[in-house]
Amino acid sequence: RKPVTVPGLRAMKGEGRRIVVLTAYDYSFAWQLETAGVDVALVGDSLGMVVQGHASTLPVTLDHMVYHTAAVARGLSATLLVSDLPFMSDRDVPHMLDAGARLVGEGGAAMVKIEGAAPHILDGIHALASRAIPVCAHLGLTPQSVHKFGGFRIQGREQEAADRVVAEAKAVEQAGADLLVLEGVPTALGERVTRAVGIPVIGIGAGPHCDGQVLVLQDMLGITPGKRPKFSKDFLAGRDSVAAALAAYADDVRSGAFPAPEHCFS
Ligand code: KIV
Ligand code: NA
Repeated sequence: RKPVTVPGLRAMKGEGRRIVVLTAYDYSFAWQLETAGVDVALVGDSLGMVVQGHASTLPVTLDHMVYHTAAVARGLSATLLVSDLPFMSDRDVPHMLDAGARLVGEGGAAMVKIEGAAPHILDGIHALASRAIPVCAHLGLTPQSVHKFGGFRIQGREQEAADRVVAEAKAVEQAGADLLVLEGVPTALGERVTRAVGIPVIGIGAGPHCDGQVLVLQDMLGITPGKRPKFSKDFLAGRDSVAAALAAYADDVRSGAFPAPEHCFS
């Protein structure tokens, strides 16, 4: 398998080939993603919830992210590695540069992900991109804003809010982002954002019209404690191995079979 690259992802959007993304937090599962041909592995700060057992992503530190990123990197070869800037490591541009340097330099990530489109975030995206650290933006339901949102709530339901997300997507692209995760928005807004930008849009709870899909690994294996989120699907149900579940997910993302209407918000 040819290594997945940042320009390669953009080419996939142009060719209409859907991008398969999953989270990973350790070496063994990274190797499973690699073997299944998953395009992008994301070391998400969701590890605060599914690995550490917290109620949000806020307790995750940069040291935690570097540790898990380095472990995942050892399991990958062709799969592209993206790692999250954790809560408040994006407080200003110098901290964003330090975090990017550690996640790429120590951790082995090829790209870092940053939530939101506030003015200092746009500055940070530009600062990282101009120092050859590719950035994935993250808009819509950005989990680090859980207290501002008053919970994990679908974003962009009203016209004005939807227009704001589209404007933010154009702004992060303009700032130099090479990829965009769009989370927890109505299907129509997922389609609007995907058409509004030239960079690939990876959806999670953002409908079927995005350029790719991402799920939290534990959700798609059906091992997340408690209730599975509406937008995810248990791909291990009725299958006999993790490898089979990952292969089914990759097939369903590439064919467009996932997400189905029951995984989407209107
Ligand atoms: O932390 C994470 O896992 C994420 C994805 C759900 C996009 O940011
Ligand atoms: Na995250």
